[in-house]
Amino acid sequence: MRAGVFDSGVGGLSVVKSLKAHALFSEIIYFGDTARVPYGVKDKNTIIRYSLEALEFFKNFDIDIMIAACNSVSAYAIDELRQNAPFKVSGVIEPGVLALKNKASRKDLSILILGTRATIQSGRYEKLLKAHGFSNITSVAPSLFVPIVEEGLFEGEVLETAMHHYFKGLEAPDFIILGCTHFPLIAKAIGNYFPHATLIHSGDAIVEFLQNEYALKGVFEETELKLFASENPDQLKATAALWLGHQSV
Ligand code: DGL
Repeated sequence: MRAGVFDSGVGGLSVVKSLKAHALFSEIIYFGDTARVPYGVKDKNTIIRYSLEALEFFKNFDIDIMIAACNSVSAYAIDELRQNAPFKVSGVIEPGVLALKNKASRKDLSILILGTRATIQSGRYEKLLKAHGFSNITSVAPSLFVPIVEEGLFEGEVLETAMHHYFKGLEAPDFIILGCTHFPLIAKAIGNYFPHATLIHSGDAIVEFLQNEYALKGVFEETELKLFASENPDQLKATAALWLGHQSV
């Protein structure tokens, strides 16, 4: 099994990390649109256009499934990708909601969705959660978290101030959906801010989803990772080496 993983930039490596850890694929082709990141502040039509361009890139490879690791793409472009792709396409929003549903003991538990402006404005998480019977939902778009993570500030004063800015006044939630590729990197800090919340991570959620939906088993000894970027691929490879302990390919 081979997968194409698409993200607006480097953040999707957090999803690759989970896919690699579970050895679901013999090969992963990763494409980060680093020349045009961030997607989360762009409008729906732009995100769809960029996603369809990425699809053309993946058509050059013999992949079985394209995974949109980017929540903003998953929020706005999944239907268009599915209509035009010669392979399966999965986003991360449905898997995230199913992962939460499997963990939640009651439907009245409180859920905090964190995502980019695009993801939150799309209402996609909220709609799916409501379809599964959840109603106690709060959505927040902490846009500053993305550049903070890009700066490698996974803890400390700047992140604490930003968290206070976005979270002050919120009731402590039972669940937090980390609805953005970058947020798993600051999961520890978010977990410290809301110590009783269960965090839902897109990477773990997509693994669970692929195992259930396509009966994928971790049968591969190793996952070969090929990294591509629309700008500065060396930077992407350096980040992969840091986050995944992966050598340049
Ligand atoms: N990958 C994006 C997401 O998960 C975050 C970065 C961006 O805004 O492009 O929504």
